[in-house]
Amino acid sequence: MTTEVRESVERSVLCWLATCDENGQPNVSPKEVFAVVDSQNIVVANIASPQSAKNIRVNQKICLSFVDVFVQKGFKIIGTATEFKPSVPEYSRWVEPLLVMASDRYPIHSVFVVRAIAVEPIVAPSYRLYPSETTEESQIQSALRTYGVCQDKDA
Ligand SMILES: Cc1cc2nc3c(=O)[nH]c(=O)nc-3n(C[C@H](O)[C@H](O)[C@H](O)COP(=O)(O)O)c2cc1C
Repeated sequence: MTTEVRESVERSVLCWLATCDENGQPNVSPKEVFAVVDSQNIVVANIASPQSAKNIRVNQKICLSFVDVFVQKGFKIIGTATEFKPSVPEYSRWVEPLLVMASDRYPIHSVFVVRAIAVEPIVAPSYRLYPSETTEESQIQSALRTYGVCQDKDA
């Protein structure tokens, strides 16, 4: 993962983890407790993700998507995931960046370590279809209207 990808992931509030079971049935669910560890690895907390955990045990192939819903750009991380449970020695290293985010309120059952194999950009079609009128600022303003939220100028 390049610095641009890492920064985008770090700015993201939510990601979507796609896994598949042994029959190839896909499963997608949101995760907000995650962290970039280094240029190849992202850790995701398994707080309430039994199906993702089950799938990763039988099929390590995953896809993890991040989108800034205001700028309407993001990245797709294609790779493998390995589940680390508290009983293994490596667990403490992987869970460490997640502990502050989860706090005592959200107990972590295990950690999914996502190893990136390929990264692809995700870009709203407007940027390609209407390049002369589409900027990051115009997309932000459009998303604010769509979601019915006001921008906090002091933030
Ligand atoms: C906004 C949001 C953030 C969430 N973040 C997490 C998370 O970080 N870790 C987790 O295990 N579950 C998280 N969940 C809950 C799972 O997405 C949810 O329990 C889901 O049904 C798990 O599906 P799975 O078993 O297919 O992974 C979150 C849910 C929402 C709506």
